[in-house]
Amino acid sequence: MAESDLVARPDRNLAMELVRATEAAAIRAVPFIGKGDKLAADGAAVDAMRAFLGTVEFDGVVVIGEGEKDRAPMLFNGEHVGTGRGPQADIAVDPIDGTSMTAQGRQNALSMIAVSDRGTMLDASSVFYMDKLVADHHGIGVISMEQTVAENIRELAKAKGKPVADMVVAVLDRPRHAELIEEIRAAGAGTRILLDGDVAGGINAARYETRIDLCIGVGGSPEAVVTACAIKALGGFIEAKLAPKDDAERQRGIAAGLDMDRIYDAEGLVKGGNTMFIATGVTDGGLVEGVRRKGPIIRTESILLRSRSGTLRRITSDHLADRWL
Ligand code: FBP
Repeated sequence: MAESDLVARPDRNLAMELVRATEAAAIRAVPFIGKGDKLAADGAAVDAMRAFLGTVEFDGVVVIGEGEKDRAPMLFNGEHVGTGRGPQADIAVDPIDGTSMTAQGRQNALSMIAVSDRGTMLDASSVFYMDKLVADHHGIGVISMEQTVAENIRELAKAKGKPVADMVVAVLDRPRHAELIEEIRAAGAGTRILLDGDVAGGINAARYETRIDLCIGVGGSPEAVVTACAIKALGGFIEAKLAPKDDAERQRGIAAGLDMDRIYDAEGLVKGGNTMFIATGVTDGGLVEGVRRKGPIIRTESILLRSRSGTLRRITSDHLADRWL
């Protein structure tokens, strides 16, 4: 959309309404922070998110949700959410990204939603993991999954005009990344080790004014699609490749129509220029602060990204606590 169109014909921003659903999910997860029961935390967040989604005037189909219908009573893949009227959309929901972190009382848990036009999100649910490479706009035409980690770090540093020694690469703290972490350090860059939450890691790599330059490594496939919705709004770079655990999963992916050798770019993960990403902090993190109680109020912090307008909004909301009892 041209700038003049944006001003002359402003359109509705669905994210401004959907943020109520991530706020509600985050608030409802609070009693479970650090209590060791991740299913209970997730259940409370799912219930709250679903109730609030039901008030939003749109016809959403859950493409990425809590799993198959039989296992997930709510927000299952294929479920329709919203009033059923208004724009038809694909929706990815993660009432808590970082359920274990929430249960353990660790940082960086988020409640999040991503939205795009109907039929545009890649359904990669048959393969659990994808290998990912995320950066800001400097990465476009400069880095690629076809290059080595060292090359990507070097080329991105050059494009950003900074020494390799100042480059910071976010990586999930998993045994599978031991070699990758060595490669990054051997290239001369530093690491930011994430206990969980590579969506926030990817967004921080693409966001203006953060310490993270790149986010690399294997994480959830749904999270790759959700990250792509955010990256489109930030004008950043993302590539991802399916990373099946074994041959059986590889075959399941092929049967589902996925291209196991393809390097998916942002457009391959989610098509079109109308993507949104909304997240509210559950526990404190590098992207947003977690829910906190301040006297009579509960304060939430959220981030809203929309690709059509290229906006990043931060919303801090004070909720009267007695309304949430
Ligand atoms: P959950 O909330 O589903 O546990 O996801 C947290 C997360 O860290 C994601 O951000 C990431 O993509 C994925 O888990 C990595 O998977 P794994 O923990 O199996 O390595």
